[in-house]
Amino acid sequence: MCGIVGAIAERNITPILLEGLRRLEYRGYDSAGLVVLDAHNHLQRRRAMGKVEALAQLLASDTPQLGGSLGLAHTRWATHGVPSERNAHPHISCERLAIVHNGIIENHAALRAQLIELGYAFTSDTDTEVAAHWIEHRLRESGDLLSAVRSAVADFDGAYALGVICRDEPQHLVAARKGSPLVVGLGLGENFIASDAAALLPVTQRFIYLEDGDIADIRRDSIAIFDVQGAPVTRPIKQSSQSAHAADKGNYQHFMQKEIHEQPRAVADTLEGRISEHNVLAGIFGVRADEVFQRIQRVQIIACGTSFHAGLTARYWFEDILGLPCQVEVASEFRYRNPVISDDTLFVTLSQSGETADTLAALHDAKARCPQLATLTICNVPESSLVRASDLVFMTHAGPEIGVASTKAFTTQLIALALLLLSIGKAQDRLTAEQEARIVGGLMRIPGKIAEALKHEKRILKLAKKLVKKRHALFLGRGAMYPIAMEGALKLKEISYIHAEAYPAGELKHGPLALVDDTMPVIAIAPQDDLLAKLKSNLEEVRARGGELFVFADENAGLQESDGIHVVPVTSHVGRISKTIIFTIPLQLLAYHVAVLRGTDVDKPRNLAKSVTVE
Ligand code: M6R
Repeated sequence: MCGIVGAIAERNITPILLEGLRRLEYRGYDSAGLVVLDAHNHLQRRRAMGKVEALAQLLASDTPQLGGSLGLAHTRWATHGVPSERNAHPHISCERLAIVHNGIIENHAALRAQLIELGYAFTSDTDTEVAAHWIEHRLRESGDLLSAVRSAVADFDGAYALGVICRDEPQHLVAARKGSPLVVGLGLGENFIASDAAALLPVTQRFIYLEDGDIADIRRDSIAIFDVQGAPVTRPIKQSSQSAHAADKGNYQHFMQKEIHEQPRAVADTLEGRISEHNVLAGIFGVRADEVFQRIQRVQIIACGTSFHAGLTARYWFEDILGLPCQVEVASEFRYRNPVISDDTLFVTLSQSGETADTLAALHDAKARCPQLATLTICNVPESSLVRASDLVFMTHAGPEIGVASTKAFTTQLIALALLLLSIGKAQDRLTAEQEARIVGGLMRIPGKIAEALKHEKRILKLAKKLVKKRHALFLGRGAMYPIAMEGALKLKEISYIHAEAYPAGELKHGPLALVDDTMPVIAIAPQDDLLAKLKSNLEEVRARGGELFVFADENAGLQESDGIHVVPVTSHVGRISKTIIFTIPLQLLAYHVAVLRGTDVDKPRNLAKSVTVE
């Protein structure tokens, strides 16, 4: 999941490429690089290890400054070949052709062997350099770049979004996509490509989203797109409503902190126009939704990471409140087994980015297995691949989420799932009007309850200081709070690098209790519900073994601070759905402050990327 940007213009495009990379850095930050065709028709390349800022510094030290009106840039999340300057993109073949690539060319080894026989020399370990030489090899046969890219990609197995330029054809750049996202940005007398529209917002708000198999010939004043058969096609132009400033940190130290604090607004925006005082509104999942919701007999949710935890949480609601069977599975498992899917299933993919390769592949596999399957995507990014591949779509209105650790996407996904529960419940008469009104009322109170929970930040910072030197942590929850505990553990491990595991509290005695001693912090979630008494017993078991307890509790849970027990009274009077969202907030804050205290790169944790567009 790298990020690519390309531009053709009359003006110098180096600053546009660099700004595009900064906006795509969430996709990978192992290295960054850029190539432009200079005034002497030479490909000038600069590459740097690490973040885009290192590349920016390298460019700043250039005299004269690097400039050109045709170029490509890349920010890398390493797959083939370690993070290093030699493996950084762009890759160049025979001093005349340069490419940037997001994806994986799976048959790179076989192609590399053929290229070596043909006399090509390699300077990197990447599959992308194989692609560069392979296109060059085809260029020698066809004599023109567009045909060369077309015949080369026909030989590639795997996924790619490619930008290609050639010094012999300075009038255009060629882009191709299969499996990895790619968008064309339309300017006035200039055009662009990028992995994500957000990269190009400073220069345009008009976009064409390429379809799988598309190849685009991009010139200053024209764009020609060809489908997988090579036939010219017209793709719709979409106007983005995102502002170029949406991705600023404002007064916050990190995007993650900003995004945690944005949750009252993100939740309110996701609810807006979807509910009235006592009801969920009709048609919020699309015009066809009601017919689908009436006939389905089960729900299958597919997702990864944090989105998977949102799905797991909703399973408790669907089965508990509606009595509707609901299964939840991580996409990378689902897609590689032989799942039994029937056409009475609503197949729900959950994703912040809408580009997660495993989730997208699971959706395609499911559709291939069961062509009548009704599919719904709950997503935060309009026009993303999942959105375009699904029958029904529900957009969370969280706004751009830049921090790699997902926060507001998670809580707004839970809101979306609650609205789904209401919509299906109504369509199937599984909910009374009173139940609907009660749930809707609870949802409306969530933004205010989140704002109250956020007020505990100072206290949570104090607790974070107690955790900062720990190497391991256990998270406990029961019922629907178990997936919330999983989410808390994931947040802690991904940004603070502390090993954290979540357990359903009742499972403790079946093994994990052996880990508990006075070095093991145990973080527990204690809402006031019918499992509270059981949870308290589990906490006693921990305390009896010397484990230090950090409990996020309902104000009325009857839990008191004492030696080795820290209690934060987070909220009160929250219902079955609301509690999952409200108790997520302190866990996000805890992970955030532990990570800041440990000095990690909170928004860009090591080895991770925001959008996982590779397997
Ligand atoms: O964009 P998606 O929601 O499909 O992404 C899924 C996961 O990659 C993502 O939630 C990941 O686990 C986050 N880094 C967690 O904070």
